[in-house]
Amino acid sequence: MNEMNELEKATLWSCYALENIMTTNNEFLSICSGIKFKKRPKLKIDFQDYDATVEQFLYLRQSVLEALNNDVFVEIDTCRGCPELARQPVFNKYKISALHIQDFNVCNLKCIYCVRGTKDNNKTNRPILDYRLLVEVLKRRCLIDDNLLVNIALDEISIIPGCDEIASVFKNYTCCVFTNALFFRDSIKQILQGNNRSYIITSVDAGTRETFAKVKGHDVFGTIRESLINYSDRGVNCVKLKYIILPNINDNYEDANGFLKLCDDVCAKAIILSRNHIFDIIQNENLPDNSIQILAYIWQKAQKASYTVELLRKYFSTDELNRLDVAISQSE
Ligand SMILES: C[S@@+](CC[C@H](N)C(=O)[O-])C[C@H]1O[C@@H](n2cnc3c(N)ncnc32)[C@H](O)[C@@H]1O
Ligand code: SF4
Repeated sequence: MNEMNELEKATLWSCYALENIMTTNNEFLSICSGIKFKKRPKLKIDFQDYDATVEQFLYLRQSVLEALNNDVFVEIDTCRGCPELARQPVFNKYKISALHIQDFNVCNLKCIYCVRGTKDNNKTNRPILDYRLLVEVLKRRCLIDDNLLVNIALDEISIIPGCDEIASVFKNYTCCVFTNALFFRDSIKQILQGNNRSYIITSVDAGTRETFAKVKGHDVFGTIRESLINYSDRGVNCVKLKYIILPNINDNYEDANGFLKLCDDVCAKAIILSRNHIFDIIQNENLPDNSIQILAYIWQKAQKASYTVELLRKYFSTDELNRLDVAISQSE
């Protein structure tokens, strides 16, 4: 019993995100980056005072932890009910090990599954944080973990005016840059050259010119292929390619094979398999068997070619994952 009490004392209701993630989202700084759980703790950035903003961030984090663990209602009643919460060992020097840059801005494609591309495509005048100042403050306060991963997902980084500056601030950190690769940018390439663990992720979702145009809204499959080859230098392991399976659009062998060929052409570091996590899940639609078959096909081929395959499991239903397991084992 005593031992149990000691254990209870040494743990707190918390989660990895609460302790380690900072997310920027235009005028907000938030803890966590969850897309499924909307009550994430956030605060308004003071663009005149980054020190005060970081101070508020730390205060917010502390307040949320206290509220969760003392079971009192506080004004910042965030996180409560989040499935990620669990008892964690108390650890006093929380550092930022993942910085997610998720500012909404502009994009030059119109992917059929993306809210940014289809609905909110014209926000050129939104404020962009001064990341140099933010990093300076975080460094000064020793808040940056040695293994910091910077996730850069600024709608489309390659077309925003601050692209080169952001690249220059983060080029020596390990970065994951989400880009549609329509425009090749030297500064993004410098991020890849600055740290050999950095990479880009491009959601291709097609293997033919026609399907690409249908999914991404522009007929630019060839252009994107060329810039991906430029980023990869025909050998540097720094491009991850994604395939969001879309029923009746790209769940066919021609697209799957074209996509695998592109992975070869750019010497892909990994293949990411995903699904449309917004519309389908809201409508509660399970993926049809055909889509599952094509995912299993890409999975098998990729494994045989020794690619790392990352299945974004959290976006799939249990039923879909079970059917995928069966389809993979049957095609072995
Ligand atoms: C919003 S984009 C921004 C970066 C960049 N424009 C790109 O396309 O990679 C970041 C990622 O979100 C993913 N995404 C956007 N909408 C999605 C959806 N409805 N379902 C699954 N993934 C989605 C894209 O595949 C992309 O990899
Ligand atoms: S390229 Fe990226 S941001 Fe643009 S519409 Fe497609 S997924 Fe959305």
